Amino acid sequence: MEPPLWSVKYSPQSWDDFIGQDRAITQLRKLAESGSCPNMILHGPYGTGKTTAALLFSREFLGDAFTSNFKMLNVRNVSGYSVAQAKRDIKALAKLDRSERTELDEYMSLVFKEVKSELNAKGRTRDPNRSQLLQGAIRLFASTVTVSDEKVKVLVLDEADALSGSMQQALRRTMEIYSDVCRFIFTTPTLAGWSPAVISRSLSLNFPSVSEGDAVPFLSGIAKKENLEIDSAALDAVARESGGDLRFAVNLLQIAAADGRPVTETKVYESSETEFVKSVRKMLDLAISGAFVDSRKILRNLLGVKNHSPGDVCLAIQRNLIRKRFKPQALKAMLDRVAEIDHRLVQAQNPFIQITALLASIGRIASETQ
Ligand SMILES: Nc1ncnc2c1ncn2[C@@H]1O[C@H](COP(=O)(O)OP(=O)(O)O)[C@@H](O)[C@H]1O
Ligand SMILES: [Mg+2]
Repeated sequence: MEPPLWSVKYSPQSWDDFIGQDRAITQLRKLAESGSCPNMILHGPYGTGKTTAALLFSREFLGDAFTSNFKMLNVRNVSGYSVAQAKRDIKALAKLDRSERTELDEYMSLVFKEVKSELNAKGRTRDPNRSQLLQGAIRLFASTVTVSDEKVKVLVLDEADALSGSMQQALRRTMEIYSDVCRFIFTTPTLAGWSPAVISRSLSLNFPSVSEGDAVPFLSGIAKKENLEIDSAALDAVARESGGDLRFAVNLLQIAAADGRPVTETKVYESSETEFVKSVRKMLDLAISGAFVDSRKILRNLLGVKNHSPGDVCLAIQRNLIRKRFKPQALKAMLDRVAEIDHRLVQAQNPFIQITALLASIGRIASETQ
């Protein structure tokens, strides 16, 4: 059997377990205790605890109603979900082995049916497209009457940066229509690109990247529980390499310790980067320095030879950008472009052209702001 992932095993179970998010956690805890749930946007870089906090908050706030009144949808997964898959009948799905269908499969099958019949009622016979399915996925949960209707429902839209501009407009209306019965919690790496209308209807809570000073004692605690032999230089290296992303930090510690021998600083560095991450970083650095042709060569290799998915490449570009020290305006402009391309990839005939355009924009924005 695969050993459990430490990032899952040591995931915060209570408010006290969160590292380095005192402000946001204090607020969430107070809200849950007082039984109030505004719409919220949890924003901050990857691996800082947003998704875990959204889940814990919902559990505490909903109590017994959690099972019936809670849903989490990963926007990236839903908007990338194929229409052909969604079209599968729920009964046919039920016949599949548990390992061959996910909760999302079942949900999307319901969504498809619902949206299709709405369209039919308007006299439209075509199948819904992906963006109609995404809207339907949000609306279906928000609009359904539940057993515990004395409580509002909570819908977490995870990785909501994958919502396009027009989707945000539609979302704003959905939020208004169901404001009595459903609260929305969004998670996103940044507020850049978000519609002011959605932001003004939500409480924004910032999850900053976790400092090395906070990460080291946390990692050291895990090392103790796992009986690792690790010196302080190696612990510092894990914290430094992770750049404030605790999921990454914990995974890195686990990988560096996998051979059962003492964990050293050198081993941490060796384990820290997959080829994929290294290549994306190099590709981005080249684009930023103006070496566009070389940057594009790496992209061709990643997509064409190594067969990485365009969505993964986009996500890795976004992660990399967030960690670099651009001026806020420049970073916002770049992330806007990433969001736009990420969205277009869903329909794109040729992802290579799309991401090439993205690299060109990033290079241009970088040169303009130097
Ligand atoms: N603030 C934190 N305190 C403790 N562990 C954390 C924290 N942030 C992230 N982690 C670790 O990283 C994992 C992923 O966190 P997650 O909530 O998914 O981050 P995000 O949604 O911000 O990317 C958690 O399961 C946990 O192991
Ligand atoms: Mg998350």
